[in-house]
Amino acid sequence: LHKTKVTVVGSGNWGSVAAKLIASNTLRLSSFHDEVRMWVFEETLPSGEKLTDAINRNNENVKYLPGIKLGKNVVADPDLDNAVNGANMLVFVTPHQFMEGICKRLVGKIKVDVEAISLIKGMEVKMEGPCMISTLISEQLGINCCVLMGANIANEIALEKFSEATVGYRENRAIAEKWVHLFSTPYFIVTPVQDVEGVELCGTLKNVVAIAAGFVDGLEMGNNTKAAIMRIGLREMKAFSKMLFSSVKDSTFFESCGVADLITTCLGGRNRKVAEAFARGGGKRSFDELEAEMLQGQKLQGVSTAKEVYEVLSHRGWLEFFPLFATVHEICIGSLPPSAIVEHFERKPEL
Ligand code: NAD
Ligand code: 13P
Repeated sequence: LHKTKVTVVGSGNWGSVAAKLIASNTLRLSSFHDEVRMWVFEETLPSGEKLTDAINRNNENVKYLPGIKLGKNVVADPDLDNAVNGANMLVFVTPHQFMEGICKRLVGKIKVDVEAISLIKGMEVKMEGPCMISTLISEQLGINCCVLMGANIANEIALEKFSEATVGYRENRAIAEKWVHLFSTPYFIVTPVQDVEGVELCGTLKNVVAIAAGFVDGLEMGNNTKAAIMRIGLREMKAFSKMLFSSVKDSTFFESCGVADLITTCLGGRNRKVAEAFARGGGKRSFDELEAEMLQGQKLQGVSTAKEVYEVLSHRGWLEFFPLFATVHEICIGSLPPSAIVEHFERKPEL
């Protein structure tokens, strides 16, 4: 019988947890090959050992997810072509800025009928306008691509604490169900929703709101202010998504990918944490510097997403409708001080 082979493209903090979740299910479900390949962007550890060798020797991503066993059926592979060779299902989970390059390298290397899913929160802005990462994957590789987003701080799921996620799909419900099967565990409940753009935009845009929440924390403005920022942020997320894609559904914002992810990221995410440090330092130390110092190789998505959203807003003449999104970018690039996060609401949105 033909068994489905799964490859995870990416091996950061969430990538490693995704491989662990999937590997627990491929062992259990007879329709899948036990082995899960995980592509590693190779690097040398301070010990001199290659990261891939360390992962395969310890069954643990010692750099991006220390202390967690991935499952013996996870095999790390630094060779992208080899990692995807023969795969029937591809799980993309790298920081969004690397996906364009990775897609270029994958052209002609994958099966024509492969199914893909993106766990990546972010977007690209091209001459023609914004391009979601699932669309980039779909268009560059000529394959179908679902998304999985949700309130999913990776370190908590690694410890098998209960959480939920949303699979966004375009038309094919059966494919969405296959992804749900591959990811679901008793502590990870996955719900399919037919709104791929809405689900992906929720995951992408909440990172911009998380930066704003971090500023508020750094300025010690308290819980009411943070709740206000989250509410205004959610409203801008919904308005922006619907202005880009009229098909986006209101109900999507009540799924795990919407309000739940917004809450967890504004409480406990990396974007929030680094933005707090930025505001505490009065904006004098750049995000790049703080990211390198605080995250040990992990990457922020919110700062570049704020820039990408700003480009779309200014290009379309929508800046005045999105004071929170616009102000976050202007603070990130140093045009405004962090305190502007609550001072620049004269651009009055009532969308
Ligand atoms: P990460 O930020 O922990 O790690 C960065 C990764 O980028 C590492 O695997 C590193 O090897 C890789 N990398 C560095 N330079 C590279 C290059 N030039 N080319 C390719 N890869 C390179 O990664 P992550 O947390 O797995 O994040 C991946 C995506 O998942 C992001 O879009 C993020 O928003 C999303 N996400 C993360 C979490 C979380 O809690 N970590 C939760 C949900 C979604
Ligand atoms: P951060 O990248 O801010 O840590 O957010 C993680 C996340 O997306 C949780 O769902």
